[in-house]
Amino acid sequence: MSADHPAPLDVTIRPAGAADRAQIAALKPSQADVSIERRLRETRSGESVYLVAIDGDRVVGHVFLRLYGNPSDPNAPVIEDLYIHAGFRGRGIGTALLVRCEAIAREGGYPAIQLSVGVQNEGAQRLYTRFGYVATGRPVYIGGVYEGMPERVMDLKKTFAVNDRKGPSSND
Ligand SMILES: CC(C)(COP(=O)(O)OP(=O)(O)OC[C@H]1O[C@@H](n2cnc3c(N)ncnc32)[C@H](O)[C@@H]1OP(=O)(O)O)[C@@H](O)C(=O)NCCC(=O)NCCS
Repeated sequence: MSADHPAPLDVTIRPAGAADRAQIAALKPSQADVSIERRLRETRSGESVYLVAIDGDRVVGHVFLRLYGNPSDPNAPVIEDLYIHAGFRGRGIGTALLVRCEAIAREGGYPAIQLSVGVQNEGAQRLYTRFGYVATGRPVYIGGVYEGMPERVMDLKKTFAVNDRKGPSSND
C-alpha cells in the first residue's frame, strides 16, 4: 500500500437523518443550513437521497442524489455535492458513495445519471471519467460559488447499459 493510497477505511454508507445535521454542517462549513434542511426533507419524502459516509460515529463524507433530474433531462438523477473530509480523501470513500448513487439510480429504473464538475477539478474529473461519465456537450457555465469564487463547471452524464437497469417492475 503506497503512502498516496492509504488503506481503505471500514466506512458505512447510509441515508442521512436529522441526527446527522450538526456533523454535516461541520464537515463542510460553506454549505448553507437551508440546503442541508432541504436535502434531509427530500430524503424523508423520497424525492432524493442524501447519503453520508460514517467512520465509527463520525460523518466523513456525503453526497446528495437528486432523483428528479434537471428540467432539460428529468429522467437522469443528478449527483450533487460529492464531498469527502480533506483528511479522508484518497481512501475509496468517494468511490463508494459514487457506486451507491449509481446503484440507487439503476435500481430506480432510471436510464442515466448526471452531474456537474468544476473545469479545474482534475481529481474529480479523473474519477468520473474512469466510471464512464462523458461530457454532455453543454458549454461550460458558472455553476455556483465554490470557496468564495464563481465556479466554471461542465456537465457530465453516464448512460446505463440496458442490461444494467433494474426497474421496480423487473423480475430479477
Ligand atoms: C473528489 C472526491 C469526492 C473524491 O473522493 P475520495 O474519497 O478522495 O476518492 P477515492 O479515494 O475514492 O479516489 C477516487 C479518485 O478521486 C480522486 N481523488 C482522490 N483523492 C483526491 C484528492 N485528495 N483531491 C482530489 N481528487 C482526489 C482521484 O481521481 C482518485 O482516483 P486515483 O487515486 O486513481 O487518481 C474528494 O477528493 C473530494 O471531496 N474533493 C473535494 C470536493 C470535490 O471536488 N467534489 C467533487 C465535486 S464534482
